[in-house]
Amino acid sequence: MILEPIETSLRDGTPVLIREVTPADADLLRLGFDHLSETSRQFRFFGAIRALSPEQVAAFTSESDRDHVAIGAAVPVAGTLDPAGSARYVRLPSDPREAEYALTVVDAWQRRGLGSLLLGILAAIARRNGIERLTGYVLRANRPMLTLLEGLGARRRIGCDASVHEMVLDLPSDPADYPPTPAGETFRRAHELCRTRAPSA
Ligand SMILES: CC(C)(COP(=O)(O)OP(=O)(O)OC[C@H]1O[C@@H](n2cnc3c(N)ncnc32)[C@H](O)[C@@H]1OP(=O)(O)O)[C@@H](O)C(=O)NCCC(=O)NCCS
Repeated sequence: MILEPIETSLRDGTPVLIREVTPADADLLRLGFDHLSETSRQFRFFGAIRALSPEQVAAFTSESDRDHVAIGAAVPVAGTLDPAGSARYVRLPSDPREAEYALTVVDAWQRRGLGSLLLGILAAIARRNGIERLTGYVLRANRPMLTLLEGLGARRRIGCDASVHEMVLDLPSDPADYPPTPAGETFRRAHELCRTRAPSA
């Protein structure tokens, strides 16, 4: 297991469960996607996709290992789970110290600190698995994500595509070294909440 399940709360007090994604979460994943606005789909997938393909569902819910990790957040509502967000990374074959990540928070749960918390937990797991940089592709129009990353001191790698920013987030070995910003504070909290175990092999 990559991550012991975490029961915590969002900035407004809403209880939230954060745990590894498993193949049994396919329906939750599809439901979360259904609740995403057009804009969020555009920002996450760079296109107006109507539904996740079976291949995407299989890839996004496959079992995690050191090289590929997916975590999900859900809010318990009336005995069921309301999918609220997810984050994943895939280690780059070309550089094992770097991984590409993606992050999504369902619109109804945005602006409550969940995006930075999920990314912080993902960063803590990545660091413990020997990853020193997380790279993400962010549309230039995606102000929410770019603002979140600015608060963490992420830098833009110079590329040829002006509409997509390749944003690199360096992961310090000591979480105290994240910036003294609200997002940095959330990352420190994420490291405290995160109790990872090295996976077997
Ligand atoms: C980007 C995203 C993950 C942020 O999730 P979130 O849960 O709203 O983020 P947080 O609540 O942790 O916000 C952290 C900070 O990001 C910035 N931010 C988030 N949403 C913002 C918005 N709509 N406008 C401006 N800044 C915003 C703020 O600085 C915010 O801190 P604050 O609320 O204290 O001001 C979410 O908007 C999302 O899923 N968007 C669609 C998918 C996507 O763009 N993914 C990223 C590409 S991989």
